[in-house]
Amino acid sequence: MRCAPVHRDAGEESSPDRRDWSRLPPLPPIVLARIVHVLCIVLWIGGVAFVTTVLIPAVRALPAGAQQIELFERLESRFALQARVTTVLAGGSGLYMLYAMEAWSRYLDPGFWWVHLMTCVWLAFTVVLFVLEPLFLHRRFIAAAKRDSERAFRLLQRMHWLLLTLSVVAIVGAVGGTRGFLRG
Ligand code: HEM
Repeated sequence: MRCAPVHRDAGEESSPDRRDWSRLPPLPPIVLARIVHVLCIVLWIGGVAFVTTVLIPAVRALPAGAQQIELFERLESRFALQARVTTVLAGGSGLYMLYAMEAWSRYLDPGFWWVHLMTCVWLAFTVVLFVLEPLFLHRRFIAAAKRDSERAFRLLQRMHWLLLTLSVVAIVGAVGGTRGFLRG
């Protein structure tokens, strides 16, 4: 389709192609849910990527000791709230989209492997952030880092790489899958 060229003089008050925002239809809830979903994924998985590729390697490069653990704790704990809020909103908006599209049957179709993967990644993070960390994982990590910090941070980095890789595959699958590619 050809678009008409736009000519606009400097200081022109109203031009025929200028949008009248008040006349736009209201934002459908499913579009809003998609916006929330994608924004949360950016803030959440982007943060996980930063922790994995920047923060942990930088902390590992420091001399082992209390300072190393304290710095990691201070920086990572700032991300913890962001991760929790975005995880809840991403899961809520994702489940809402499935409900609104009446698309629960995707869970029964292997061609929608990326919906399974998105849900598994979300479940893994939810269990770690809301169950394992508050219960014992955090305390165990500090104790392990005090004993042998190199080993503890190496293991932590591996776990982050695993979750980050699965998240990236889920994002590729979701973006390709919603446009009809990558169906098994
Ligand atoms: C309970 C967990 C989740 C559910 C139920 C869910 C569900 C959905 C649904 C229904 C869509 C729209 C699909 C369509 O329009 O056909 C979507 C889009 C998307 N999801 Fe998820 N999701 C979840 C978690 C995640 C996670 C953990 C990631 C990333 C790691 C993710 C990444 C995306 C992306 C990037 C899109 C946008 C695709 C696009 O429009 O280009 N989702 N999700």
